Amino acid sequence: MLGNFSYCNPTKLYFGEDSLNYLNTELPKYGKRVVLIYGGGSIKKSGIYDEVIKILNANGKNVAEISGVMPNPTIDKLYEGVEIARRHQADFLLAVGGGSVCDYAKAVSVSVNCEEDPWEKYYLRFEEPTCETLPVGCVLTMVGTGSEMNAGAVITNPHTRQKIGHVFADEKIMPKFAVLNPKYTLTLPHYQMVAGIYDIFNHICEQYFSGEDDNVSDYISEGLMHSVIHASRIANKDPQNYEARSNLMWAATWALNTLISRGKSTDWMVHMIGQSVGAYTNATHGMTLAAVSLPYYRYILPYGIQKFKRFAVNVWNIDPAGKSDEQVAKEGLSAMESWMKELGLVMNISELGATADMLEGIADGTIILPGGYKVLQHKEIVEILMESLA
Ligand code: NZQ
Ligand code: ZN
Repeated sequence: MLGNFSYCNPTKLYFGEDSLNYLNTELPKYGKRVVLIYGGGSIKKSGIYDEVIKILNANGKNVAEISGVMPNPTIDKLYEGVEIARRHQADFLLAVGGGSVCDYAKAVSVSVNCEEDPWEKYYLRFEEPTCETLPVGCVLTMVGTGSEMNAGAVITNPHTRQKIGHVFADEKIMPKFAVLNPKYTLTLPHYQMVAGIYDIFNHICEQYFSGEDDNVSDYISEGLMHSVIHASRIANKDPQNYEARSNLMWAATWALNTLISRGKSTDWMVHMIGQSVGAYTNATHGMTLAAVSLPYYRYILPYGIQKFKRFAVNVWNIDPAGKSDEQVAKEGLSAMESWMKELGLVMNISELGATADMLEGIADGTIILPGGYKVLQHKEIVEILMESLA
């Protein structure tokens, strides 16, 4: 375990079938003027909306709403929400939905009292808020992003074809609390469920595939990966299996709540390439990751061979006896590929709407990060993207 770090995660979690009741514990801690934020209507269909409104009313809250937060929320939607929150003089933001809704609530939180343009300040200059921010609470309905317990907020600018995530350094941007009721996730379409599962798995990979030191984070990561693979196979065959879905929900939170990145440089290039694919196609986040992962990992494998070998042996139970390190490492990725196909993930970017003429632009929009086993050049990103076409 090398390096220097601090660790603090102040988000309080309420987990399980009865967890929504704890809104009654949390809401009295904040002011009367609440903005309820949600997506395109799934919470109205499932009845979660009615339950939440009932609790807000019982707690005497004055509620305004921001509805229609789309998957991959846009900067224009952010401007609209900031105006609503300002007009309502909001004291508190309650996000009810998936990662998009939770991310969006955090973006509103840092923008309401900000006089500068949030896109330029937070997404182009990556600055921290210099204004007062609003507290955010989350009721999670879709599993994958970890947004319920981190300070990330991803926003898409369709005008410039950029999808950018800002992970704020200040832990006060993390939600004050999150309600995690696995039952809420049972209404997710299969496509969203498996996209979320791969998102979890890839968050772990992004942190695991970095560094060569002996690090406790890597052992935790391997445990989480085992749990995700096991639960995903059950949930894929039997989506209503509460035990599997609850394990996926808990694993997702721990996959990206800053714990397993401690002492690690972290990679994140699958996310950087996937996000740029998302900016061009508006595709589902987890599917963009699935579509670029194998070409990326096969490309960087020679630069991190020992870790890929460890991944093969410890995560995919590949027997290393009598094989070269490279052979073992490659067999690990093949096992991962079989699992991905078993889940029905999208394995190429063509299926997501990307075409050959977009590749230069997608590579231009990819933010290159230095923490993995190889710092990519622009032309290498284009090559990886070409491999990701059908
Ligand atoms: O909008 P509604 O009607 O609610 O429908 C949503 C949406 O269409 C639906 N859904 C959610 N819960 C449901 C449900 N449908 C039925 N039953 C339910 N219980 O699912 C669709 C997708 O929802 P969304 O919130 O977009 O999915 P996800 O949680 O994957 O969030 C994706 C966003 O999070 C960002 C992504 O880039 C993307 O913008 N990320 C945020 C991260 C973070 N904060 O750290 C990290 C991630 O890597 C990711 O980048
Ligand atoms: Zn992700």
